[in-house]
Amino acid sequence: MDDCMEKYIITGGRRLTGEIDVMAAKNAVLPIIACCIMIKDTVVLRGCERLTDIDNMLLIIKSLGGACSFDGNDLTIDCRKVGRHSVNRALSGALRSSVFILGPLLSRLRSAELSYPGGCDIGLRPIDLHLDGLRALGVRLEEDEEKISCDGRGLHSGTVVLAFPSVGATENLIMAAVLTGGRTVLRNAAAEPEIVDLQNFINAMGGCVHGAGSGTVVIDGVKKLHGGAYSPIGDRIAAGTYLIGGAMCGGRVSVRGVRSDHLCALTDKLRAAGAVVTEYPDAVTVESDGNLRAVRKVETQPYPGFPTDLQAPITAMTASSNGRSYIIENLFENRFRHTRELKKMGADIVVCGRAATVRGCRLHGAAVHAEDLRGGAALVLAALKAEGTSEVTGLRHIDRGYCDFEARIASLGGNIKRVKNSCV
Ligand code: UD1
Repeated sequence: MDDCMEKYIITGGRRLTGEIDVMAAKNAVLPIIACCIMIKDTVVLRGCERLTDIDNMLLIIKSLGGACSFDGNDLTIDCRKVGRHSVNRALSGALRSSVFILGPLLSRLRSAELSYPGGCDIGLRPIDLHLDGLRALGVRLEEDEEKISCDGRGLHSGTVVLAFPSVGATENLIMAAVLTGGRTVLRNAAAEPEIVDLQNFINAMGGCVHGAGSGTVVIDGVKKLHGGAYSPIGDRIAAGTYLIGGAMCGGRVSVRGVRSDHLCALTDKLRAAGAVVTEYPDAVTVESDGNLRAVRKVETQPYPGFPTDLQAPITAMTASSNGRSYIIENLFENRFRHTRELKKMGADIVVCGRAATVRGCRLHGAAVHAEDLRGGAALVLAALKAEGTSEVTGLRHIDRGYCDFEARIASLGGNIKRVKNSCV
C-alpha cells in the first residue's frame, strides 16, 4: 500500500484508561510459521492476528506449495505439499523474516533459494551470521548480487559459535538442525523469549531442543515432527508500546496476555520515570499521572536487556518527560529516524552516532511520517501526548506489527482516527 493512502488523525491530551489484550507475538509467530515447512501435517497456531508481516510470510508458504487459512484467531498451516525450494524476489523482499525459510527448507528439501530479504530499513541488517552458521553445518552456499542458493545435501550436526547473539540466526540454525541426525550445539546463542517459544513449539511437535533462553542451545536431531495445536507467547513489544502510552498520557492501562517477566527491562524504566507498575504472571498494569521524570539512561541490549524494538517508543516518552535522558542504541545503526519526526512536534533531541540526548519538553501536534514499524508506533504515542492535533502517515509500517492499533488505543480513550488521505 502506498505510504500516502491512509493516515491517523490524533488529538492529544487525553488520559488512557482501560484493559486491552495482546495476541501472539509477531516475532514468535514468524519463525514458527517457517518451521511448519518441516512438518508434513497440519499445525494450528492459536491467538494469531492479521499483521502484514504474517500475511507476507503466509504468501511465502503458499508459494512453496503449503496451504494456510485463518479461522478467527486460529491460523492453520498445512505444509504436506511443500515441494518448491525457491522464494521469488517480490516475496522475500517484503519482509526480513523471509530468511527464516532457509533452515526449514534445507531440513525438508535439502535445497533452498532466496532473494535478499527486506523488512524495516533500520540499518545494514546483514544475514552473514545465518549463512556462516549454515556453512558450519555443511550447507554449500552460492551468492550472487540477487540471491542466495543453498545446497543442503551435506547438512550435518555440529557446533556453531555465533559471532554475535543474533535472534534470527539462532532461530534459523535451530530449525536447520531439528531434523538433522546427531547433536547440534549453538554457542553464544540469543536468549530472547521468542527463541524459547520456538523451542517449545518444536518440542510440542516431537522435536528435541533444549537450552533456549540461555547462551547455549542443544538440538538433538529427530526423524520427523508431527502436527498439532500451539499457542505462541503474547507480544511483549506490542504490550510494551501500550504500557509506555499509558505511562506517558496518564491514567491506568492494563495489558493482558503477556508475561510480565518478559517486560522487566521496560517496567524498571517505567518505575524509574515515576509510574506505578503492577505485575501479574500474564498481565501488567501501569498507572501514572502523566507527569514523568527523565530515565537517565536507556541502553538497548540483547535480551534480557532493554529491547531495541521499544527504543523508539521510550524515546517518545522521554521527549515529553521532565529532565534529560540518554538513549543508546546498540543493536541497529539506523534506528533514530523517528527523532527527526519527533522534533517536528517540538521534541528536543540531539543524536550523535548511536546515542540520543533527549531533553523533555511539551510536545505539540504536527504532521509526521512513520519510516519504520516501531518508529511509527512512537510517533502515535507522542501524538497522543501532544497538545493539539497530529497527522501520522506511513501507516503501512505500523500495520506490519500492530493489529487494530487505532481500535485498541481508542478503547483506552485515545482520540485517534484512521482516515483516507486526500493526497491520493
Ligand atoms: C529480531 C526481531 C527484531 C528485533 C531484533 C533484535 C524478529 C522477526 N525480528 O530481528 O524485531 O529488533 O531481533 O532484538 O524476530 N546481524 C548481523 N548479521 C546477521 C544477523 C544479524 O550482523 O546475520 C546484526 C544485525 O544487523 C543487528 C544485530 O545483529 O545489528 C541484531 O540482529 P538480530 O538479532 O539478528 O535481529 P533480527 O533477527 O533481524
